[in-house]
Amino acid sequence: MSSSDGKTISVIGSGLIGRSWAMVFASGGYRVRIYDNQAGLAAKAITEIKKQLGELEDAHMLRGELSAAEQLVLVSSHDDLEQALEGAFFVQESVFEQLEAKQSVFQAVEAHVGDDVILSSSTSCLLPSNVFSRVQKRSRCIISHPVNPPYYVKLVELVPHPETASTVMETSHALMTKVGQAPVRLKKEIDGFALNRVQYAIIAESWRLVQDGVISVEDIDLVMSEGLGMRYAFIGPMETIHLNAPEGLEDYLKRYREGMRRVLTAFGPVPEFSGEAAKRINDEMCDLIPNDPQHLSARRERRDQLLMGLAKLKKEHQ
Ligand SMILES: NC(=O)c1ccc[n+]([C@@H]2O[C@H](COP(=O)([O-])OP(=O)(O)OC[C@H]3O[C@@H](n4cnc5c(N)ncnc54)[C@H](O)[C@@H]3O)[C@@H](O)[C@H]2O)c1
Repeated sequence: MSSSDGKTISVIGSGLIGRSWAMVFASGGYRVRIYDNQAGLAAKAITEIKKQLGELEDAHMLRGELSAAEQLVLVSSHDDLEQALEGAFFVQESVFEQLEAKQSVFQAVEAHVGDDVILSSSTSCLLPSNVFSRVQKRSRCIISHPVNPPYYVKLVELVPHPETASTVMETSHALMTKVGQAPVRLKKEIDGFALNRVQYAIIAESWRLVQDGVISVEDIDLVMSEGLGMRYAFIGPMETIHLNAPEGLEDYLKRYREGMRRVLTAFGPVPEFSGEAAKRINDEMCDLIPNDPQHLSARRERRDQLLMGLAKLKKEHQ
């Protein structure tokens, strides 16, 4: 028996993210029970997981200490919610990003589990206060927001409901760490959490620079992939400023504070992301990467291969 002591996690929703969670949890030795409200989809997810585990094993990228076959036997599929929740200490919801769907899933789940079971949501954009509004015991609720694809991009944002118990935050943090993810704790709920707030700031300024004719679509992407992104795969913005002045962060502020504030004050308003500018930017993007299924899936495959390589590199440097 692995160090998970045969503990069980239920995954509700067997789409892209639900399947990834199942693989991540199984890699840590947990039993995983997958449920989907579309009959047969949970079983289909197992077939897909089997295929992916085999490919990962062949590529020497399988996570955890168990073989692909050992991980696969930990995962089961269920078309009945109550059955899928049997014995679970942690429930990871990964259904459509619709408030009503999530609210009713948690209401149904709560009716079948004990008081100490943690209810966790994968939501990207919904606030915990809204997602868990129909749950009776909200101190057991938390958002565990993954990044796609979670198998290679390990960040998980843990976002509490105002009533979430600190033990729930700590147990979720320990679980995510144990299965090899990189959890971060938000101290309170906020729209967009941390990742999307930073991401949207980058997207907005990149958009304004292209829209205002300062730089091309191709070149702004190079600013990230060949510039900022090189170090951001290893160190964040705070360490960046700490290292970028001889005497650290305070020294950086002395040197660059004014310049930073001048540039930031010159930022334009929130873009509309529509109309003539959106058409122009879309055309420029499609000249580089046509938006037909073949080109897009080839680029997605390339992205995932590169992320796999980067995950390998980061593991070697831990
Ligand atoms: N895809 C991403 O990049 C990404 C990243 C982070 C978080 N998320 C979040 O993860 C969640 C799932 O996203 P996804 O991309 O896997 O979606 P998806 O559409 O691939 O899968 C959703 C699955 O949920 C099932 N489902 C719908 N309603 C259900 C219900 N009531 N009970 C049980 N199953 C139900 C569907 O049949 C489907 O299989 C969303 O909240 C999304 O915001 C997605």
